[in-house]
Amino acid sequence: MSKIRLGILGGGGDSLIGVLHRVASNMYDRYEIVGGVFNPDYNQNIEFAKQIGVNTNRVYQDFESLIDEEIKKPLEERIEVVSVLTPNFLHFPMAKKLLENGFNVICEKPLTTSYEEAIELETLQKKNNTIFAVTYTYTGYPMVRHMKHMISEGELGEIHKVDIQYYQGWINPVIHDPELRKTVWRLDPKKAGISSCIGDIGTHAFQMAEYLTGKEVKSILSDLNTLYKDNTLDLDGTVLVRFKDNLKGVIRASQIATGEENNLSVAIYGGKGAYKWEQENPNFLYHLKDDEAMRVIKPGNTYVSEVAADGTKLPGGHPEGIFDAMGNIYKGVAKALRKETSFKGEFPTMRDGVRGMLFIEKVVESNQKGNIWLSMESK
Ligand SMILES: NC(=O)c1ccc[n+]([C@@H]2O[C@H](COP(=O)([O-])OP(=O)(O)OC[C@H]3O[C@@H](n4cnc5c(N)ncnc54)[C@H](O)[C@@H]3O)[C@@H](O)[C@H]2O)c1
Repeated sequence: MSKIRLGILGGGGDSLIGVLHRVASNMYDRYEIVGGVFNPDYNQNIEFAKQIGVNTNRVYQDFESLIDEEIKKPLEERIEVVSVLTPNFLHFPMAKKLLENGFNVICEKPLTTSYEEAIELETLQKKNNTIFAVTYTYTGYPMVRHMKHMISEGELGEIHKVDIQYYQGWINPVIHDPELRKTVWRLDPKKAGISSCIGDIGTHAFQMAEYLTGKEVKSILSDLNTLYKDNTLDLDGTVLVRFKDNLKGVIRASQIATGEENNLSVAIYGGKGAYKWEQENPNFLYHLKDDEAMRVIKPGNTYVSEVAADGTKLPGGHPEGIFDAMGNIYKGVAKALRKETSFKGEFPTMRDGVRGMLFIEKVVESNQKGNIWLSMESK
């Protein structure tokens, strides 16, 4: 079967996330990167394409030209799916034009810079019936998939408490320097949107909460910290969340948690047991019970669920990490594009992206209005 023709917008040699997508797309030999716009500067764009071995005939000046030129090609040559890996404010115009022209899309989170834009994309996607993934990367880990599967099978009983923390400290040296903090796009509302910390990482924690429990958050109350008067976007936040019935939780995110690297930690507590998992040690899933010693579940063993086994390439004891997690998301999208059988939730969808945008907006609004409870009912 021919490889899926992938185009990439953003993710140039100067970017953080580009390499993750390139490696992930190659991981199961399903995709070939055939074109893109890796950088707003055309010369850098061409240089980078040569460096990674992409034919420069299909490297374009900007995303509009990519779409206009690709659409003229016959279907069997045309780019089939485009990954959008630019700063946040470009996700919406890029994804919109791609959807309007019938392209499938893999888009980085947060989906857009507003809930309204997200709804517009969702409406377009439903109309055109295209595949749209939003790369909430951490759902690609085998142990996260195992956790979701076992929770849905009732292993933990009724879930009562969700505690998801995402702590980083990288912004400390930036935020405490008045000049440096003006130079970072994640702190610029025109490029990042209305939030920094919650938009960048709190949204991962929120998506994880809904993904693992299979339930929607119904209301939230937030408390955010911006530290300095000239900095308008949040750097830290604590959000109380209520699902339906007696399921409540807390989402904690920070970019000023000194010394923390990428500490996404998940704890799900139910009547019959609990799961704990940490992104920095992703091959260890802890299963807790009242009356038994704690068990450690690891990928590559015969006892893991089918969905976890499908996302594990080597036998137990060979650590898999963030590249493998993203590889599994690309694999899920490949199955959808080629209409192959897949497991439920193999890649986060437009709906996850839309819910993420609603979360960001409500969290910022709750904080602005004096830390009040707000409804999270979706349109
Ligand atoms: N899923 C995750 O875990 C994860 C992790 C990090 C970043 N992200 C998301 O990925 C996106 C990019 O983040 P990053 O940290 O890689 O940013 P970055 O600033 O490191 O890189 C952005 C890239 O986009 C390119 N670019 C900018 N404007 C462009 C344009 N008009 N056309 C084409 N390319 C353009 C830049 O040249 C650069 O290569 C953000 O939305 C971010 O939230 C997701």
